[in-house]
Amino acid sequence: MNETYFDDSRFDSGDDMDFENRIVSTAYTPGSDEAEVSLRPRHMEDYIGQDKAKENLKVYIEAAKLRGDSLDHVLLYGPPGLGKTTLSNIIAAEMGVSIRITSGPAIEKPGDLVALLTNLNAGDVLFIDEIHRMPRTVEEILYPAMEDYAVDIIIGKGPSARSIRIDLPKFTLIGATTRAGQLTTPLRDRFGVLLKLELYTPEQLALIVKRSAAILGIPISDDGAYEVASRSRGTPRIANRLLKRVRDFAQVQRKSEIDAATAGYALDRLEIDELGLDNTDRRMMEAIIKFYNGGPVGLDTLAATIGEEAITIEDVYEPYLMQLGFIQRTPRGRCVTRLAYEHLGMRPPLPPTPPSEQLHFFDDSAEC
Ligand code: ADE
Repeated sequence: MNETYFDDSRFDSGDDMDFENRIVSTAYTPGSDEAEVSLRPRHMEDYIGQDKAKENLKVYIEAAKLRGDSLDHVLLYGPPGLGKTTLSNIIAAEMGVSIRITSGPAIEKPGDLVALLTNLNAGDVLFIDEIHRMPRTVEEILYPAMEDYAVDIIIGKGPSARSIRIDLPKFTLIGATTRAGQLTTPLRDRFGVLLKLELYTPEQLALIVKRSAAILGIPISDDGAYEVASRSRGTPRIANRLLKRVRDFAQVQRKSEIDAATAGYALDRLEIDELGLDNTDRRMMEAIIKFYNGGPVGLDTLAATIGEEAITIEDVYEPYLMQLGFIQRTPRGRCVTRLAYEHLGMRPPLPPTPPSEQLHFFDDSAEC
């Protein structure tokens, strides 16, 4: 096997990457859509992980089909990149209906939503991604649509204005959000099924990587898949993206198969560490340590310090860092934990205890 390596000097550290350009970004990247669609499972039995959500959904789908009814409205929530759109497509396929896909910010005016709703056929799924970003005026159209399968529209202006009611076919709304807490109560209450999607385990992600590699014709060993999986922050979208970048390195190195060493080498080159953290994660934790003595620091202050949006920190960086136990959210702000210090190879501060005790242990007061 050819062991030729790249010339490292051609690569810089990418320290100033913005969120969209991070290799571990959970955002869609231009050009990734088509490939991503081909990797998406189309049936429930091919969908790996999210066992709790999946098992309950299977019951609701079977029951609705037995009644000859449409599925109740479903709210899917959880961090980005976990397969909310994929699961919605599967739900529609299992119900044997069509799906219309849109997003909260794309529905600008009430009329946009009315047009979508009146074009649905009985039983169809309307999928609204980022439903928390829907304008309030649009949201108000959704209430009677979800509850009574009807919309009220105002015709005309001034004294001659009148309201007419348009009946809709019975449909299923699937809303997806990274922030269930930002939904208004009237909207949240109109969903009959609430499903939380969780970050995937490395074992589940390794199965997804193997499946994607088989579809793309990429030879990969079990330990190679596990290496990619364990650096993918619990997120299939990241795992699939890393798989393709690792393939590039393997191809140039004339490797016949991606093994753990090949994957590890490529991921090191991408500056993704063995836990899947990149420069931005490290920069954020180091900022809390260096400038705020490990925390607590308020979210907005932290965002300004590292030049990221507060919402991106909350939705994208923190869920995984919290799962690793590296960051804690406290009422007074964000803190890094002793585990984070150890991962970064830094010394945690000594606790404010008498010197005799300081010689023995760290205690929790070092973690704010
Ligand atoms: N690709 C993306 N998400 C997936 C999942 N949950 N199962 C299988 N393949 C996937």
